[in-house]
Amino acid sequence: MARRPRNPLKPLLDCPRVSEAAEVLVAAVQDECRERVLSPEAYARAVAELGRHRGRPLFLPLLASGAGRGARVRLADGRTVLDFIGGIGVYGFGHADRDLLRAAVVAAARDTAFQGHLLPGPEYHHLTRLLRRFAGRRLRHVWLSVSGAMANENALKIIFQKHHPADRIVAFEGAFAGRTTTLAEITDKPGFREGLPLRGNVLYVPFEDPSDPDSTARSLAALDAHLARYPGRIAAMLFEIVQGEGGVRVGGREFLAALMARCREAGVAVFVDEVQTFGRTPELFAFRTLGLEEYVDVVTVGKMLQGSAVLFRAAYNPRPGLVAGTFAGATAGMAVGARILEKLEEEGYLGPEGRIAVLERRVARRFEALERRMPGAVRERSGIGTMHAFTPWDGEPETTRAVIRAALEEGLLVFGAGSRPLRIRMLLPVNVTDEELEAGFTILEKALARVAESRGLAC
Ligand SMILES: Cc1ncc(COP(=O)(O)O)c(C=O)c1O
Repeated sequence: MARRPRNPLKPLLDCPRVSEAAEVLVAAVQDECRERVLSPEAYARAVAELGRHRGRPLFLPLLASGAGRGARVRLADGRTVLDFIGGIGVYGFGHADRDLLRAAVVAAARDTAFQGHLLPGPEYHHLTRLLRRFAGRRLRHVWLSVSGAMANENALKIIFQKHHPADRIVAFEGAFAGRTTTLAEITDKPGFREGLPLRGNVLYVPFEDPSDPDSTARSLAALDAHLARYPGRIAAMLFEIVQGEGGVRVGGREFLAALMARCREAGVAVFVDEVQTFGRTPELFAFRTLGLEEYVDVVTVGKMLQGSAVLFRAAYNPRPGLVAGTFAGATAGMAVGARILEKLEEEGYLGPEGRIAVLERRVARRFEALERRMPGAVRERSGIGTMHAFTPWDGEPETTRAVIRAALEEGLLVFGAGSRPLRIRMLLPVNVTDEELEAGFTILEKALARVAESRGLAC
């Protein structure tokens, strides 16, 4: 691997005046956050008001205080809950990590909150260097953006320009790609595109079904049929290596490599969406965890990065004018994103024996124990790294929602994924401790028992 670039923020953080001030500010803010507690009535009012502002109630009655530590987050009414979903992947290092907060406050004190592509600062520079280095030699260029959807939009534009006049995209059934008008069409969920104009340029192939020995052959046949029907018109296939929103369905290497190889033969771009997987599998990129580097043309990342980016091969470098926009990201977001990448490497999270791989095995053991005690309630477990899910009973949506609500009442935050079945998903912080894991699984078991009792289900 190439030499590690020097962090231009480091000298500032190392400067005693700055680091002491950052330390003092972070401590003062955290203390204040802990002390500012809403009464249960005021909390309920605030949650209801927030729902009115948004036009519908919050899915879960949650309002954070800003304080927390590790997997534990303090709500605005003073309750502390274990957060095993991390804002759907945002809190990769848990809550109020001091190291990340220090990086954030120093960056925030430099200039205005966001920075753009016209006047990039040192955070922009450092983050792009780190991303390029971790992505490997093939992916030569990177453009920063704010959300996963924006990174995916940039990726599609880059691909369409290069493959013009090809105008179709292949995606997996059950894919989630984001919520712009274009991405809502690729996302395989009719409810997410209700009322939107459709372009009709998305084609689907089945995702891997581990229970079907012919799964790879079936998906290859579907891809071949699309290639035969639209010769020269398919620009890319979008690979979501782990279908996060689709229920944490993990694609196997053989399956993905077979489809990627077919795309290569056919001159179709291999576009990997790592918005949710980034930083959550034993290597920083899931495509590297699965050894798929040789196939990949374009990759997008987001969520845990505290911003987003598209990385691509030199051959995909777009002509000027195609990709830009005012904002590249929040300055603090870029600084924290870069610090997260450094911490993942420096603190031993990456690699086959790194802390993420070890955590994956620890979580598997917890689930196995729960399955033994509640075989009726814990089904179809799947997961990789810090992403895990299971189907409670038969995954009937009301039952799953009841488990999520019961878990929250008992002090554990988890979330749904997929639709039928609706599964329970966890996106764990990489630094979750044994004690937190134990406490979370104990609560989950209690919640399942409560739902079994109230709905007359057998565990
Ligand atoms: C795989 C994948 N792609 C894209 C997105 C969209 O990212 P964002 O919500 O930041 O726009 C998500 C968000 O959940 C995602 O999981």
